Amino acid sequence: MKMKDTRNKIFSKIEDLRKKIKYHDYLYYVLNQPEISDYEYDKLYKELKELEEKYPEFITADSPTQRVCGEVIKEFKPIKHTFPMLSLDNTYSEQEIYDWLEKISKFVPAKNLEFIVEPKLDGLSCTIHYIDGKFHTAATRGDGETGEDVTLNVKTIKSIPLVLETKYKIKIPKFFEVRGEVIMFKVDFEKLNKELSNKGQQTFANPRNAASGSLRQKNPKITAQRPLRFYVHSYGKIETDIDIKTDEEFLELCKKFSLPVIQNYKICETIDEVIKYCLEWQNKRDSLEYDIDGMVIKVNQLKYRQQIGNTLKAPRWAIAYKFPAKQATTILKNVIMQVGRTGIITPVAELQPIECGGVIISRATLHNFDEIKRLGVKIGDTVVVERAGEVIPKIVKVIESKRTSKEKEIEIPKKCPVCGSNVVKEENEVAYRCPNPSCPAQIINSIVHFAKREAMDIEGLGESVVELLVEKNLVKKISDIYFLTKQQLLTLPLFKEKKTNNLLSAIEKSKQKPLSKLLYALGIRHVGEKAAELLAEHFGSLDNIMQATESELQRISEVGPVMAKSIKEFFENRYTIEIINELKKANVNMTQTKAENKEKQIFKNMTVVFTGELESMTRNKAEELVKQMGAKTSSFVSKSTSLVVVGKNPGSKYQKAKQLGIKILYEEDFLKMISEK
Ligand code: IVH
Repeated sequence: MKMKDTRNKIFSKIEDLRKKIKYHDYLYYVLNQPEISDYEYDKLYKELKELEEKYPEFITADSPTQRVCGEVIKEFKPIKHTFPMLSLDNTYSEQEIYDWLEKISKFVPAKNLEFIVEPKLDGLSCTIHYIDGKFHTAATRGDGETGEDVTLNVKTIKSIPLVLETKYKIKIPKFFEVRGEVIMFKVDFEKLNKELSNKGQQTFANPRNAASGSLRQKNPKITAQRPLRFYVHSYGKIETDIDIKTDEEFLELCKKFSLPVIQNYKICETIDEVIKYCLEWQNKRDSLEYDIDGMVIKVNQLKYRQQIGNTLKAPRWAIAYKFPAKQATTILKNVIMQVGRTGIITPVAELQPIECGGVIISRATLHNFDEIKRLGVKIGDTVVVERAGEVIPKIVKVIESKRTSKEKEIEIPKKCPVCGSNVVKEENEVAYRCPNPSCPAQIINSIVHFAKREAMDIEGLGESVVELLVEKNLVKKISDIYFLTKQQLLTLPLFKEKKTNNLLSAIEKSKQKPLSKLLYALGIRHVGEKAAELLAEHFGSLDNIMQATESELQRISEVGPVMAKSIKEFFENRYTIEIINELKKANVNMTQTKAENKEKQIFKNMTVVFTGELESMTRNKAEELVKQMGAKTSSFVSKSTSLVVVGKNPGSKYQKAKQLGIKILYEEDFLKMISEK
């Protein structure tokens, strides 16, 4: 009896944790209004995971822990859609919207029609089947008739409920197919690209490609780490007794099932209202957290949709109004190959100069050779270039009708364009790279990386100076910068007494940087700033890291097998060993104590406010700590407050911070932040 009691208790604890996690997933991913910190969330998740490991008999398919499976997908199996996933006809002007209305009013009088107008998300479409309320299958659009089975990957997207539950008294449909868009927020995309580039991996061209590349991973564990979102915008097959009369009612029903639904939709009574709403979003599209490329206009009443019908490819009852992009048409004159610090070869387009959104552009990124293949672009082609936000322009398409027969294929280089080494491509990687660590392009870029602010912070050692030093043969590898003499520097153009002294003293000062900076500065593939800090702190000295085995390295939670292998290979390389020996000779610091890390100015230029009682230290102590780390403190919350640290029983400052949307850090997170650094 007693044992049963305990088991019951454990079971209800597990259920309780699941409920809490689902609730917080919903707040965070669907409503965008988290109530608890990441730290608290992780704690709940860990507790559930541990209990389930101990009592596997209680694991259910819909537990939040079951989103990620250990399996690697061999191939995405084809899935035939219940109904075709159609595309949308596009319009580009107000007139075309009027024309559309005229066309459909042949089927239903215009005065009877109501419209639902919503942003057109720039992502990839995806359909999800719920059977008896349980997440069952997910597929991409594919050719519209048949898609690819991405069930295991879509399951990892936390905003998507694994079970349709509702606190309202609604009968769960037997079959419920929602269709929507998988997207990535712009900030998440920037962050992901930064992480990938820090690790020396290929980045994505835009949030859409990042979403698509992340969803189509063969290893769902990787998808799980990617910040994907999903928003329902339409439906497929639905078997239910519920009488759904309009699209709006369908979306409201989805909301009741906690499904993430397209935001900012509006019901419009007249076509003028529709146009006004489209133009309103055309002006404020940049204010959204994600990219939209237009608005979708649909008839709201489902019975009228039936009367209006579909063509083979697209519904007649809906159209997309596409925003004008900052685009221009020009000619691709040449493609040059740039070699980065890790040897990655990036193709860059040289264009016939053209005005695009108010600036003259003559270069555009082509990103990688997969992108070239996708675009089918050749040298000499007439291409459309686009500038979105402030990013580097990119080629978005080729105008095939302008083709002559003189265009030239863009060849993947067999040899490094700078040093002539044979180019290599590793399995599972998109990038082609030059494997020669003494390639001048790699040397220049790796010294620029070594000297940058987040690394050894050597002011005055930017790209142009490094290029000069390499060109004049004064520097052949990173460590050579520590042996530069005043006489040598004075021979460089523009280097007078003052500039030379400044550079020499900046170089000298960098020798005292903590090990974490040096480690990051060395540019080991896959080792970003964070990993460098953890490694430095854990091992304390460069020698210890160099001697560590792969499994010892992996004892740090953030270091996986790929990073461990890369670190090992890096330090086994003769060229690296030579550099390290030279750095030692130059007396560059190669150790780090925990306290040294505190020199990190994590609160630099921030105004921090504390509210509530801190459990771990006094308010004074906390204020002193953040000041040491670069912050100013204040007792008032205002628009210029950067951060509010919240303890127990917080006061009105907490409310004010929430109102103003100021970043809030709970005590646990605050502690984690200061102890990690
Ligand atoms: S409704 C019959 N609503 O645009 C198709 N589609 O160009 C009904 N899309 O593949 C789709 N945002 O994946 C609809 N708010 C939205 C959308 C949207 C993006 C995608 C959709 C479709 C593509 C068609």
